[in-house]
Amino acid sequence: MEHLSAKPFRLVSEAADEAGVEAYVIGGYVRDLFLHRPSKDIDIVVVGSGIELAKRVAQKIGKKAYLSVFKNFGTAQVKAGDLELEFVGARRESYTHDSRKPIVEDGTLEDDQNRRDFTINALALCLNRERYGELVDPFDGLSDMEMLRIRTPLDPDVTFSDDPLRMMRAVRFASQLGFFIDPDTFEAIERNRERIEIVSKERIVDELNKIVLSPKPSVGFELLDRCGLLPLIFPELCALKGVETKEGIGHKDNFAHTLMVLDRLSRTSDNLWLRWSALFHDIAKPATKRFDPRAGWTFYNHNFIGEKMIPSIFRKMKLPMNDKMKYVQKMVRLHMRPIALTDDEVTDSAIRRLLFDAGDDIDDLMKLCEADITSKNPEKVRRFLANFQKVRGKLAEIEEKDRVRNFQPPVTGEEIMETFGLPPSQPVGVLKEAIKNAILDGVIPNEHEAARAFMFQRAEKMGLKQVEEKE
Ligand code: CTP
Repeated sequence: MEHLSAKPFRLVSEAADEAGVEAYVIGGYVRDLFLHRPSKDIDIVVVGSGIELAKRVAQKIGKKAYLSVFKNFGTAQVKAGDLELEFVGARRESYTHDSRKPIVEDGTLEDDQNRRDFTINALALCLNRERYGELVDPFDGLSDMEMLRIRTPLDPDVTFSDDPLRMMRAVRFASQLGFFIDPDTFEAIERNRERIEIVSKERIVDELNKIVLSPKPSVGFELLDRCGLLPLIFPELCALKGVETKEGIGHKDNFAHTLMVLDRLSRTSDNLWLRWSALFHDIAKPATKRFDPRAGWTFYNHNFIGEKMIPSIFRKMKLPMNDKMKYVQKMVRLHMRPIALTDDEVTDSAIRRLLFDAGDDIDDLMKLCEADITSKNPEKVRRFLANFQKVRGKLAEIEEKDRVRNFQPPVTGEEIMETFGLPPSQPVGVLKEAIKNAILDGVIPNEHEAARAFMFQRAEKMGLKQVEEKE
């Protein structure tokens, strides 16, 4: 274990020997060491007092070390620069049925490993000098690591009922690490799924975020669906499932389509909120679905209805109700616009309006729209993507020329009010809107002088008179 030769581990080793206690690195850090993944948090489990060992380590590091002690939890943290060491005494835990908060007692290393979620997270490396680097692996987590298998150390019904969040963690690790869930463990998730209700929404959404950010997020969402957790935590996504056929005409399965869009997008972007936008882009399809004998299946205005559905879903799932939500709403609202452009002759005016509406998020929107092309017909895909390339080119050209991406009207409301001696009122809004439209439609350039001339023209038609300028 070359990483274990690093100085902090040597210091913990010395301190543990001096204190006469056993100390082990355990959990995610060890797992990630084997997987060659970067890992920041280092968990040290001590057979004895974690707090005492943390104090000794902090002393050895010297002035650079910050020690925080959490007496109630029997844990302590030592920070020095980038380094973060968490110390905890080995413990046994027992749980009551209705809470994730365990009753904790001192225990052996094995007790401590027993209470952990998965075999790959229960690996411990000894730090004491005599056994330095020795792996303690009572559940054969190493072979699970090699087999890419997620399995609980104990009877999975016990592990999941102790802490139902672990069901989400199993799925998250599968999606994040590309592991599979052992059938016994998976069946226990199916059996215990209803217990997810004692887990806070915040913890659930933390795991969902990690699934969304994983290399191929469909893996996680398909697992959530198969084990029956998805309808409990995200029913609106489940509602996209299924295909209906009428008069021999079917529509696509919007659940499968949504996951395909998310996976395709994940190849070009790791922006969490753009990925959430992919999950939400067709969320209103079930609500807007109609069968029209002439047009077949339609989903009119599903983008606008989807935008409106988002706040209540965000509130319920404890997703942030802030500018991130607004961004997702905007992506959902606009996700049909670029494709509509490729259908028609692309006019400058339509491009300006899209730039105006999307602002700085235009590149993200284009990525989402490109990911949204999931047709099985390669010729169709090629044609759409080629058209998008054209739209991208045109967007760059118009932006260069007209700078409407972050459009600020060249004549302000203030200026209109002063010029015509108006209080804040409807005509001011009408004039402002007319100027904006004239610029976006290319009637006048995006410049103050032209906009002012246009304002006078329009004001005259509205019967507005310029007030005399004061001497
Ligand atoms: N753990 C557990 N049950 C949980 C959460 C954590 O048994 N519900 C144990 C696992 O042994 C885990 C360790 O506590 O490895 C540390 O947990 P945490 O830092 O939350 O997760 P990591 O496994 O380190 O992974 P990540 O940082 O990716 O969340």
